[in-house]
Amino acid sequence: MTDKSSNQMWGGRFAAGPDAIMEAINASIGFDKRMATQDIAGSRAHAAMLAAQGIVTSSDAEAMREGLLTVLSEIETGQFAFSTALEDIHMNVEARLKEVIGEPAGRLHTGRSRNDQVATDFRLWVRDQLDAAASGLEALMRALLAQADAGADWVMPGFTHLQTAQPVTWGHHMMAYVEMFARDLSRVQDARKRMNESPLGAAALAGTSFPIDRDMTTEALGFDRPMANSLDAVSDRDFALEFLSVASISAMHLSRFAEELVIWSSAQFRFVTLSDRFSTGSSIMPQKKNPDAAELIRAKIGRIFGANVALMMVMKGLPLAYSKDMQEDKEQVFDAADNWMLALAAMEGMVKDMTGNRANLEAAASAGFSTATDLADWLVRTLDLPFREAHHVTGSLVAMAEKRGCDLPELTLQDMQSVHSAITADVFGVLGVHNSVASRTSYGGTAPVRVREQIGRWKEVLG
Ligand code: ARG
Repeated sequence: MTDKSSNQMWGGRFAAGPDAIMEAINASIGFDKRMATQDIAGSRAHAAMLAAQGIVTSSDAEAMREGLLTVLSEIETGQFAFSTALEDIHMNVEARLKEVIGEPAGRLHTGRSRNDQVATDFRLWVRDQLDAAASGLEALMRALLAQADAGADWVMPGFTHLQTAQPVTWGHHMMAYVEMFARDLSRVQDARKRMNESPLGAAALAGTSFPIDRDMTTEALGFDRPMANSLDAVSDRDFALEFLSVASISAMHLSRFAEELVIWSSAQFRFVTLSDRFSTGSSIMPQKKNPDAAELIRAKIGRIFGANVALMMVMKGLPLAYSKDMQEDKEQVFDAADNWMLALAAMEGMVKDMTGNRANLEAAASAGFSTATDLADWLVRTLDLPFREAHHVTGSLVAMAEKRGCDLPELTLQDMQSVHSAITADVFGVLGVHNSVASRTSYGGTAPVRVREQIGRWKEVLG
């Protein structure tokens, strides 16, 4: 005799229900209820296909369709009572369907397994998140583009080693991030293309003997094609790993920009002023305005990359096909997705609201002998010095200016000539920061004319 407490879905061969600890470790409903919409979409596609193929009657399929819509609305309105005893979203939905429509519910699982069901649901869920990430990235790129447009010719220090290197333009710096987020976007699009195949119909692992039509369910769910190997379809989670890898790289980009905003908004830099809407105060120091949103975005890479590593470790070494280990995929992806979307939105908000402090940027650009390379280039171009010698002459002039406590343009022509007699007054034309940036017209360079070209190109792309 089957114990009454054994599982109503698979309890046939069981004499007793699970231990409480077994139920606690086994149940995924606490988190996989987030895939309810996808689960019901998959079931509706499957039910319609079963009827079209004459595997169930059309009246049964109609009952399933209506029943599934009822269950969906119960879930959407918060009336659905999720049960841990029913393990997961798939069995919760099916059990409720049985209560709503009775006997026909028992025919829904024909030619299907929870293994292809969960793979389908999860793909649909990840696909939605890729679409959300694409929108988030585009919105952020637009915000950066607006900043670049407003300050295409503002000068600021460009850094290497976080030491002043050469003057660059604000627009150029903003557009550098547009390029990075554009690559993130193209990775999102690539990942979406690769993952958009339907596992539904792979059944438990080997396919099914029922005359199912996989093309029909594929089309109903917006997939491009059915997956070609049923073992692969139920057992790989590379699409989730690719999502996490793309998210990790994007979070890394977000983290770098966040770090710059933390530095730039400090009292020592004052390159930008962040809006009150994206800052917080201190409970003890009244003067403080902290860039908490930037700091939190900077930190998000930790959990997102952590999820990537965690799922990679779950998947490594698993024999084909499905193993329950794979249930551990969802929480990692859910958490990473939530935090990636939040970081994108917060960064967009901060960028939209922030003010670049033009005067401070320009003052900083002029400090630190930032036009030394321009001087060396002038020596090469005008006096035909080999670059190495020009580097040396310039180094001596920097040392002289440093000793005097002045900047390069403040040295006199006599000072210059004391180091190299052929230098003429013409040299002062390249020493100002505006001259410096205007001269860097090579493709991809920082000159405002080049930056405006890039802004124009991206405006067209983003529409
Ligand atoms: N909750 C399960 C998961 O997330 C669904 C698949 C269960 N399949 C099975 N053969 N036990 O992986």
